[in-house]
Amino acid sequence: MRLAGRVALITGAASGIGQATALLFAQEGARVAVVDIDETAGQETVRTIAAVGGEALWVHADVSVAEDARRAADAVAGWRGRLDILFNNAGISNVGVLHEIPEDEWDRVMAVNVRGVYLMAKYAVPHMIAQGGGCIINMSSGAALLGLERRAAYSATKGAVLALTRAMAVDYADHHIRVNALCPGTVYTPFVERYLRTSYTDPEAALERLKQRQLTGTLARPEEIAAAALYLASDDAAFVTGAPFIIDGGMTAGRRA
Ligand SMILES: NC(=O)c1ccc[n+]([C@@H]2O[C@H](COP(=O)([O-])OP(=O)(O)OC[C@H]3O[C@@H](n4cnc5c(N)ncnc54)[C@H](O)[C@@H]3O)[C@@H](O)[C@H]2O)c1
Repeated sequence: MRLAGRVALITGAASGIGQATALLFAQEGARVAVVDIDETAGQETVRTIAAVGGEALWVHADVSVAEDARRAADAVAGWRGRLDILFNNAGISNVGVLHEIPEDEWDRVMAVNVRGVYLMAKYAVPHMIAQGGGCIINMSSGAALLGLERRAAYSATKGAVLALTRAMAVDYADHHIRVNALCPGTVYTPFVERYLRTSYTDPEAALERLKQRQLTGTLARPEEIAAAALYLASDDAAFVTGAPFIIDGGMTAGRRA
């Protein structure tokens, strides 16, 4: 019960990494607010948490919309009187080299992945400051650390999130708010399934190539990223702030000759 008594707000908690983290945090004693734009899957996540004896709240919000972000942060803080953990996990991707990316697509990826982190933190932080501290985890990516083919817009957003994480860690240290970033390698989620289906004529062969990008020769499971988020959210990580937490099967460490 490493998160007993804490209230956690997780964006993008209706699927993949966010969903796995919501379940794990609830099993570790946190009350979890499931924030997403997917009402059906979000409600399902809440039911799954309730089925294992956890406590969860569904909040429909688009993180790129200021009014939604403010409403979500205030609703969660008002739910049990506090807001201890913000996991800025919601994110989208696109595929393409820079000169082929339509401007509206670039803007949308930026809006969800960067503006969404800014807005959710903007409206959550005052609650954390008022209660004397908190913890923020921002979802970056291995794409912030090395160039990936045809992922220009996505990589730009994840680099921005990593830089923002360090800036926030400095600004909020005196308020006892720790801010860290997760930098996962490829995790097998609906996000990656979509990417494989839409970007390759042979998704099976592409999946095998993706696996070989890691030294482990595997993709991560969402539960493995959730375990890293749990560590960062818990008191075990009291000395950890401003850190890029790399969990990538060795993808950025090197490659075999
Ligand atoms: N899967 C990977 O390989 C991988 C690797 C590194 C980083 N990431 C990052 O991890 C995060 C989660 O990825 P995933 O693989 O679990 O994806 P996913 O597609 O399975 O889940 C993302 C969730 O975010 C929600 N969402 C999308 N736009 C939203 C918005 N505007 N407001 C609120 N919710 C919104 C979706 O409805 C969905 O439930 C993303 O930020 C992604 O960039 C994923």
